[in-house]
Amino acid sequence: MSICGLDFGTSNSTIGILQDKQPTMVPLEQDPSGEWQTTLPSALFFDFEDDQINFGRHAIARYTAGEQGRLLRSMKSLLGGSFMNDKTQVKNRFYTFDEIIGFFVSSLKTQAEKYNKPDSASLESVVMGRPVYFNDTDTALDQAAEEHLANIARLAGFKHVSFQFEPIAAALDYEQQVSKEELALIIDIGGGTSDFTLIKLSPARQNQSDRQNDLLANHGVHLGGTNFDQRLSVNCVMPEFGMNMPLTDKPGLHMPGHYYFDLATWHKIHLLYDRAVLLELQNFRPIVSDKAKLDNLLQLLKSRKGHQLASLVEASKIELSTEAESLVDLSSLFSDSREDAMKNCTISQAQLQLSLQRDIDKIFNTLQETLTQAGVSHKNIDTVFTTGGSTALPMVKACIDAAFPNAKQIVGDLYNSVGSGLLMEAQLRYR
Ligand SMILES: Nc1ncnc2c1ncn2[C@@H]1O[C@H](COP(=O)(O)OP(=O)(O)OP(=O)(O)O)[C@@H](O)[C@H]1O
Ligand SMILES: [Mg+2]
Repeated sequence: MSICGLDFGTSNSTIGILQDKQPTMVPLEQDPSGEWQTTLPSALFFDFEDDQINFGRHAIARYTAGEQGRLLRSMKSLLGGSFMNDKTQVKNRFYTFDEIIGFFVSSLKTQAEKYNKPDSASLESVVMGRPVYFNDTDTALDQAAEEHLANIARLAGFKHVSFQFEPIAAALDYEQQVSKEELALIIDIGGGTSDFTLIKLSPARQNQSDRQNDLLANHGVHLGGTNFDQRLSVNCVMPEFGMNMPLTDKPGLHMPGHYYFDLATWHKIHLLYDRAVLLELQNFRPIVSDKAKLDNLLQLLKSRKGHQLASLVEASKIELSTEAESLVDLSSLFSDSREDAMKNCTISQAQLQLSLQRDIDKIFNTLQETLTQAGVSHKNIDTVFTTGGSTALPMVKACIDAAFPNAKQIVGDLYNSVGSGLLMEAQLRYR
């Protein structure tokens, strides 16, 4: 039986297999420098010219190059939400979001099978990762999200599908380097969720399939890097497109904020490309205080550059991990005369900090709740193991340093730790 661990992430996905019995993270795509990467950005591009579906970096590149088509990112955020059962139009067909996620999961499976050619067996059994909460307020929707994902995996051809919590998978990965018993806190802050596990690890416990007695707490919150992008965009970039501008005929009223919140939210951007929405926005033109800003917004939407704008904001957030300031090159989104009308916008580290503070506080409150649930003080924790792209944020690192001054800190592989732990779990479950 051929087994794998599959981490379907909000921003990046990985798949781990056994190759010649050795645990291996599958190289999924070459980056622009030609180097093979084991991460595939969780993105699809439906190309309207050749009716092909592109995945990962390639999908984003096709969209950014201005090819006709539809880009989808952050699809995992739909699982557990109110849009989960919706259909979406791509060219002249309607797809359920399960079908779209299914294309992506199938492509990961196929890639892994191709890579594994010498063993030639198709992958039959998978342990998939799941966040502690797909939905942290509604248990029924949370359960439904897992059922959707299980269904998607079965439709992709997996015969045996089971789940493990993403931070527990990361714990199993970290446990490979543990030489004596320790109490470890696993912190996984990714694109969509922040997840925490408090667990006893030791070399002797590694091969036990039931770890319930070692698990002290498992907790999380539906907040991550895509929320940070949204906050930064709304606070620092959306005002350039007219957010908060007064309406001249209605004293005290402003442009409705929901258009801007959608434009700043990866999985909602496409809703604004709808003709009816464009018409609604056009109708505001006579009454807005700054017509040029509304024209910039309309032009951006007509040329379907919303995802590109979101990518620029995300890139600035990442740049601010190392630089004091970052330029969001808004004029690069406009190719015609509007290029001059669009002011560029610079974001400082202080603005990033201000924009993210509330979310970071919420994440660290949830972390404190994790310790409270277990009745454990920070002083009892031997090791803090971090994974997930958003733990690279200096603000996050500073909070961890302040909360656990005495614990040993281990920075894991930010992108592969969960996937390799899921493969380990698959080895235990399907042996
Ligand atoms: N240097 C950095 N500073 C801030 N954020 C970063 C940095 N590098 C990556 N990120 C963010 O990390 C996130 C992606 O992390 P990761 O790939 O771990 O998420 P994921 O596993 O896909 O999501 P999830 O597990 O929540 O479903 C993105 O939001 C990205 O912008
Ligand atoms: Mg993740």
